[in-house]
Amino acid sequence: MPWQKQKPLFIVFEGGEGSGKTTQTTLLFQRLKRLGRQVKYNDEPGSTSAGFKIRNILLGSQGELDPLSEFLLFESDRSLDYKQNIIPFLQGGFDIIQDRNFGSTFAYQGYGRGLIKTHEKIMKIVDETVRQKYYPDIIFLLDGNPAQLMRRIKKATSFEKEKIAFHNLVRKGFLSQARADRKHWIILDATKSQQTLHEKIWQTVSGLF
Ligand SMILES: Nc1ncnc2c1ncn2[C@@H]1O[C@H](COP(=O)(O)OP(=O)(O)OP(=O)(O)O)[C@@H](O)[C@H]1O
Ligand SMILES: [Mg+2]
Repeated sequence: MPWQKQKPLFIVFEGGEGSGKTTQTTLLFQRLKRLGRQVKYNDEPGSTSAGFKIRNILLGSQGELDPLSEFLLFESDRSLDYKQNIIPFLQGGFDIIQDRNFGSTFAYQGYGRGLIKTHEKIMKIVDETVRQKYYPDIIFLLDGNPAQLMRRIKKATSFEKEKIAFHNLVRKGFLSQARADRKHWIILDATKSQQTLHEKIWQTVSGLF
């Protein structure tokens, strides 16, 4: 069957700062493209025009935002992203290779900021509404010790400057989600080499064809 006739793939990469998400999304994007598939690379937040303005608020005024407003801003960005960058392309037969998605929101705002303790139900309702029931085929979690992974990054954003205790909570949040949904999430050791990780990812993705 020609590639174009096959069901488009929706693949998401999650993980903390410096875990290798952009590296692995790029490697997978290039490999699928070489095979002749129609592929779209997409990342969050800020990949729509209004979303970019939301991203600037999120990254620039972190101290002023409470966890709920932070959550709602990320979901506003995601709503635009799904409408403009994800749903039309999946419907048009494109694979989506996505750098961060709802897993990050639940890990950072939910676990890191603790919103999951008080607002779990509403977080799920808002997020499901925003995604219009579209769900990734696979979510790869690049997992590792945050202190170790963050040493790979040179220029830190406001989120990256958070205390290590926060990033440990975020890691816990990613792992909780992954362990609760083994059907979609795959946990990878982010400290393995780029090529080892890519081959492991490729094994899974090519199995979906
Ligand atoms: N498996 C790996 N082993 C060692 N270094 C790596 C690995 N994967 C990526 N790196 C390096 O670590 C740095 C961060 O990688 P990358 O930008 O892919 O991470 P990221 O998860 O996208 O980070 P951010 O959350 O900041 O967007 C880069 O310099 C990259 O070359
Ligand atoms: Mg990145």
